[in-house]
Amino acid sequence: MSPFTLSRTLPADATAAALRADVARGLALPADPGPAGTAGVPALKQLPPKWFYDARGSELFERITELPEYYPTRAEREILEHRAAEIAEVTGARTLVELGSGSSEKTRHLLRALPELAAYIPVDVSESALTQAGQALLAEHPGLTVHALVADFQSGLTLPSTPGPRLVAFLGGTIGNLLPDERAGFLSSVARMLSPGDALLLGTDLVKDEATLVAAYDDAQGVTAQFNKNVLAVINRELGADFDPADFDHVALWDRDREWIEMRLRARTELTVKIPMLDLLVHFTAGEELRTEVSAKFRWERVRGELAAAGLDLRHWWTDEAGRFALSLAVRD
Ligand code: SAH
Ligand code: TRP
Repeated sequence: MSPFTLSRTLPADATAAALRADVARGLALPADPGPAGTAGVPALKQLPPKWFYDARGSELFERITELPEYYPTRAEREILEHRAAEIAEVTGARTLVELGSGSSEKTRHLLRALPELAAYIPVDVSESALTQAGQALLAEHPGLTVHALVADFQSGLTLPSTPGPRLVAFLGGTIGNLLPDERAGFLSSVARMLSPGDALLLGTDLVKDEATLVAAYDDAQGVTAQFNKNVLAVINRELGADFDPADFDHVALWDRDREWIEMRLRARTELTVKIPMLDLLVHFTAGEELRTEVSAKFRWERVRGELAAAGLDLRHWWTDEAGRFALSLAVRD
């Protein structure tokens, strides 16, 4: 059998249909004037974050991970370097599933620590990221079997049957990009994927001072701004829209109450965008903002509580030396 296979769990047009539905839902706001008293106060336009990641978006994200301000990747790598052997020992994993695997760059530490691994299953919406990561990994681990899956980890994953125990890794703090109710649904679906003896390895960025957090999402070189605006280029290409990225400013703000960073695009002037494939005109007032992503930051209590609510028991909690980022290992109750 080939050491590298790539499969799509969705029909080719499902992605396009999902994008159309998300854009129609998120940009047509305000769809109705709202309950009495809120009339005239438009709901915030919004898009789900998975649409950032076409080939260019995946490349820009890799550049973000190397920015001086973007500490989460380095902090998580530090934890993996120190704990990979322990993770290998306590899980005894023979299959490693990685959700939102991207470049799989940090995963190398786990792969090296798991010499008995029978299969690595990276799952990502970005086919270009999966293909590139797969090639790089096979060069480094010639004996490894890699089954890459182009799939949405939020909608009913079906995994190939490979030997257990299974370790499901969800790194990079990507869980913070889901809204609280989405996180609950997602963690329950992960719990259902686990058999007794399997484990979840979860990376979460931690609450810290506002200046450090905001800088990580608003870097001096403007790479994050380009990444944020890439979602407009995706909508232009896929739906024939005429967004001009130069009409928008990148905004990153810390929501102290909800403990998340919010990424927005703010219209510089009043403008109207045409989206022919949806037969839609989207109006922005000057200064109106479109929310493109949240990135929630966690504390131990919240991680433990959300895992427990999904039937997962937090067994290990490891942070980097500076306490910026945490890796949690959980098993099914
Ligand atoms: N794990 C890597 C990449 C994190 S960036 C790291 O830690 O550096 C988030 C990754 O998740 C991207 O590669 C993106 O393409 C992928 N992704 C985002 N939403 C997704 C979804 N709904 N389903 C599958 N993959 C998704
Ligand atoms: N999972 C990453 C995070 O929340 C994704 C990310 C980093 C991101 N920088 C971004 C998403 C900027 C949108 C815009 O840290």
